[in-house]
Amino acid sequence: MRSLALSFALLAAGSSAVTAASAPTCAKGLYMVVARGTEEPAGTGVTGNLTSQIAAKVPGSQVVAVDYPATFDDYEGSEGKGVQDMQKLLNAYGQACPDNKIAILGYSQGAQVSSDSVCGGGGSPFIDDKALSTSIMDNVVAVAIFGDPSHVANLTYDRGTSVRDGIFNRTEASIDVCKSYSSRIISYCDTGDIYCDSGSNTTVHHLYIERYGDDIVNFVVSQYEKAVGSSSSNSSSTTTAPPTSSATASPTSGGSGGRTNSTTSGPTKSASASTSPKSAANALTPAAGSLIFGVGLLAVLSQML
Ligand SMILES: *[C@@H]1O[C@H](CO)[C@@H](O)[C@H](O)[C@H]1NC(C)=O
Ligand SMILES: *[C@@H]1O[C@H](CO)[C@@H](O)[C@H](O)[C@H]1NC(C)=O
Ligand SMILES: *[C@@H]1O[C@H](CO)[C@@H](O)[C@H](O)[C@H]1NC(C)=O
Ligand SMILES: *[C@@H]1O[C@H](CO)[C@@H](O)[C@H](O)[C@H]1NC(C)=O
Ligand SMILES: *[C@@H]1O[C@H](CO)[C@@H](O)[C@H](O)[C@H]1NC(C)=O
Ligand SMILES: *[C@@H]1O[C@H](CO)[C@@H](O)[C@H](O)[C@H]1NC(C)=O
Repeated sequence: MRSLALSFALLAAGSSAVTAASAPTCAKGLYMVVARGTEEPAGTGVTGNLTSQIAAKVPGSQVVAVDYPATFDDYEGSEGKGVQDMQKLLNAYGQACPDNKIAILGYSQGAQVSSDSVCGGGGSPFIDDKALSTSIMDNVVAVAIFGDPSHVANLTYDRGTSVRDGIFNRTEASIDVCKSYSSRIISYCDTGDIYCDSGSNTTVHHLYIERYGDDIVNFVVSQYEKAVGSSSSNSSSTTTAPPTSSATASPTSGGSGGRTNSTTSGPTKSASASTSPKSAANALTPAAGSLIFGVGLLAVLSQML
C-alpha cells in the first residue's frame, strides 16, 4: 500500500514539469492548501487564522502555503505562478494520498489563484490554466475563498452581499466548471469591495475574516465530516466537535451579512461597459493598488498581531 502510494508520488513528480516537493505526507485529517493575499508576507497570511481554527477541529490536519510572489507588480505573472504551485501541490498530494481529503482556501489574489486552479484560468489576460482534474477534485471537500477579483455575482455558491462581478473577467467555460463544484465552494464578497465587487470602499476587502470567519471554519469542518462520514466505515473516529463559536464576539454576520439570495438570474456577463482586462490589470499596479491593499492590510495585521 505504502509503496504503491510512493510510486504514484514518483510518477507525479516525474510527469510534472516543475520539480515536485518531497513526497507529501498523508494527513490523517485535512490537507489544507492556502493562497495568501497580495503583499501579505510569505506563508498563509490572515487566512492562517481560519486554518488554525479548522485544524483544531479536525485533528491530524496539515496546512501548506502556496509558494508564489503575491505581488501587485506583474500581477498576472504572480497569479499564474500561484496557480502553478497550487496545482502542483494538489496533484502531488492527490496522487500520493488518494484516500485523503483536501480543502483549498484563498484570499484576494489567492482567491483568484484558487478559483483559477479549480475552474481553469479566467482567460486573457491571465495564463490560460487548465482546471484541476476531476479525480483530484474528488478529494477536495471544500473551496473557501474571499475577496476574489474574478468573482462572478449571483452564483449559488456566492456568499456575502455583493451582486456585482469583480474587476477581472471569468469565461463562461470556467464558470461552468466552477458550477459543477458548487456544493463544495463558498465565495465571499461584500458590496463595496474594490476588487471582488468592483466597488469603491477600501475597507470592505479586509473585513471577511472578522465578518465570516466562523462561517468559513464551520463550512470547511462540516464538509470534511460529511465526506469522511460517508466514505469511510470509520465514522466513530470523527469526534464531531460542536461548532463552539470562539470566545470572540460573534462577527457581524447577522442580518444583511447573510448569503445572497440567488434568484434565477444567471451570471449575465454584460460585456458592455465592463472594464477591459488590461485596464483592470492596471488598476492593480503598485501605484494605484498597493497603497490601498498594503496600507489596509498593514492596519489589519497590526490589529491582529
Ligand atoms: C445579480 O442579481 C441582482 C439582483 O437580481 C441584480 O441586480 C444584479 O444586476 C445581478 N448581477 C449581475 C452581475 O448580473
Ligand atoms: C468577458 O468574458 C465574456 C465571455 O467569455 C466575453 O464575452 C467578454 O467579452 C469578456 N469581457 C471582457 C471585458 O473581456
Ligand atoms: C466602508 O465600509 C465599511 C464597512 O461596511 C463602513 O463602515 C464604512 O463606512 C464604509 N466607508 C465608506 C466611505 O462608505
Ligand atoms: C482571528 O480573527 C478573529 C476575528 O477577527 C480575531 O478576533 C482573532 O484574534 C484572530 N486570531 C488570530 C490568531 O489572529
Ligand atoms: C479511523 O479512526 C482512527 C482513530 O481515530 C484513525 O487513526 C484512523 O486514521 C481512521 N481511519 C480512517 C480511514 O479514517
Ligand atoms: C429568496 O427570495 C425568495 C423570493 O423573494 C424567497 O421566497 C426566499 O425565501 C429567499 N431565500 C432566501 C434564502 O433568502
